[in-house]
Amino acid sequence: MSCNILSVAASVPEEAELFTNPRRAKAPAVILLTTGVTAAGLFVMASVGAQTKPKAQAKPAAPKTAAAKNETVAPSGAPTPEQIAAGKKVYEGNGCSGCHAIGGKGGNAGPDLSNTGANSTHTPAWLQSQVTNPKTHTPTSTMPAYPGIKGPDLVSIGLYLSSLKPAGASSAPLIPVPVKVAPVSAAVVAKVEKLGGSVRQVAQNDNHVEIDYHMTGASVTDAALVPLATIKTTVELNLAKTSITDAGLANIKGLTGLKTLHLENTKITDKGLAHLKGLKELAYLNVYGTAVTDDGIQQLSGLANLKKLYVWQTKVTKAGADKLKAALPKLEIVLGFDAK
Ligand code: HEC
Repeated sequence: MSCNILSVAASVPEEAELFTNPRRAKAPAVILLTTGVTAAGLFVMASVGAQTKPKAQAKPAAPKTAAAKNETVAPSGAPTPEQIAAGKKVYEGNGCSGCHAIGGKGGNAGPDLSNTGANSTHTPAWLQSQVTNPKTHTPTSTMPAYPGIKGPDLVSIGLYLSSLKPAGASSAPLIPVPVKVAPVSAAVVAKVEKLGGSVRQVAQNDNHVEIDYHMTGASVTDAALVPLATIKTTVELNLAKTSITDAGLANIKGLTGLKTLHLENTKITDKGLAHLKGLKELAYLNVYGTAVTDDGIQQLSGLANLKKLYVWQTKVTKAGADKLKAALPKLEIVLGFDAK
């Protein structure tokens, strides 16, 4: 788990607990897995019951459940090359290639696995159950069950198999999978954390990150923005209530994927907003409680994706807001009570 969950919000107890406690982070997947096993088991009993060999079905169920309780859920995010290499070893060590071919090598008693990961149902968890109990997927399966593959071995073989797909292929999923990006390196995450921030992956299958400094607040200075310049996969940044200044914002100029930016209750001024001109994906900007003026916000007129701008408790006037709205008709500008 540790390698892919990037969220360590030392300063945010609830969030840290939610995202770093492996038990809680894992719980839904375990339930899913267990439910899957139970459902499949019921299905097997109901539909094939008497005709097939009940012993063969009953047996793998026990190790499977035990294994599920034991760290068998794949970590979130993209597998690392190390995990894939480890999974390949497990595959090779268990004679899978006697029946399966990968890249033209291996037997043909079972399906070719060269692109097995390209099938959107073949998630790491699905592949794990295929290994430990193939009958959960195909009640009449002739593939032997491998209840002995468990723990980290099971995780890595699941990840290895899921990585088998044509280069650059999309897995045609039901819900669109975001463009794959590399996870933020542990060293960079550590830097941000040292400066009082947290780096959190936006979703299990998406390595884009949200960076949050607002919980640390006033002790966060421009120095905290320096490492951000390298984290191009940042989609959300919260600097509210920190002591950052206009100069510090120069570091986020290049974060062109940024969608949400919180600058409320900071010392930033119009000068700082000049650094945001290139953030073309920006959809949400909050400068509540800053010294920003009408002139300052006109610098945002090129941000075609901007949908919400909070300028309550600033020097922005209705006239200034209307001027920006003329350039960005889709933009909603929240001026305060009057605007509602
Ligand atoms: C004795 C032959 C045999 C061996 C050994 C074997 N399999 Fe299979 N495997 C099959 C057959 C047959 C299927 C087709 C579906 C079924 O019967 O479950 C299959 C299906 C699969 C699938 C699903 C593929 C698909 O496209 O649906 C995966 C993944 C898989 N095997 C992985 C493995 C792994 C990993 C190992 C080694 C740990 C292994 N198999 C060992 C025979 C084998």
